[in-house]
Amino acid sequence: MKHLLAVLCGCLPALALANTSVSSPQSLWKEIQGLQKTHAIMPESTPYQVGSRTVDPYTTDLANTAAKDSVQKAGGILKVTRYREGSLVVKENYNRHKQLVGVTAMLKVENFDSVDRNWVMAAYDPTGKVLAFGKVGSCIACHVIVRKQDMVFAPPPQQLLPITTWKGFFPKQAMNPRYVALITQYPHNVVP
Ligand code: HEC
Repeated sequence: MKHLLAVLCGCLPALALANTSVSSPQSLWKEIQGLQKTHAIMPESTPYQVGSRTVDPYTTDLANTAAKDSVQKAGGILKVTRYREGSLVVKENYNRHKQLVGVTAMLKVENFDSVDRNWVMAAYDPTGKVLAFGKVGSCIACHVIVRKQDMVFAPPPQQLLPITTWKGFFPKQAMNPRYVALITQYPHNVVP
């Protein structure tokens, strides 16, 4: 578990459930499983897209109807300024054998944490064991880079982060060479 935590957020989880009206980690996992079963791929994402590091060289993004509607109404992830209440976006992380190694999620909950745009952040192992849930500082610290998109990134190669940023959060993890190649190929898509 320790190892996976380091993989997912590079720090100890902040199990801070500030607001008890927030859905529980278990009920959120059920919702995630629903998206997995119906292959609810997030707009602009593709199954097994390039992940940033060798621990997760493949990722798949999922989204529920509220999140999909938000993207469609705005005309693309880059144009969304506010996701609708109840929006859920999920990132599945896969290893090089395309085995699921972890799941992260962001759920928009009214009045949860308005300073950070009311996203409940969550991380699970592949069996649904909760690794982090709530106002998780390490997740927010990076996602805030795209605050103007309401903290949701567009998948590679649309938006890429510099290697120095990844290294700052995950100093011990090697970069995925394919991701590094995308940075070279699409230098203008790198979000500073
Ligand atoms: C060092 C930066 C960084 C950290 C730390 C980070 N993320 Fe992300 N996250 C990203 C980037 C970049 C993407 C877009 C790549 C993709 O879609 O696969 C992303 C994608 C996601 C997505 C899919 C929706 C989106 O924004 O594209 C979710 C959900 C997510 N992250 C949740 C989390 C959670 C929960 C944590 C903490 C446990 C976390 N992230 C930590 C950078 C980060």
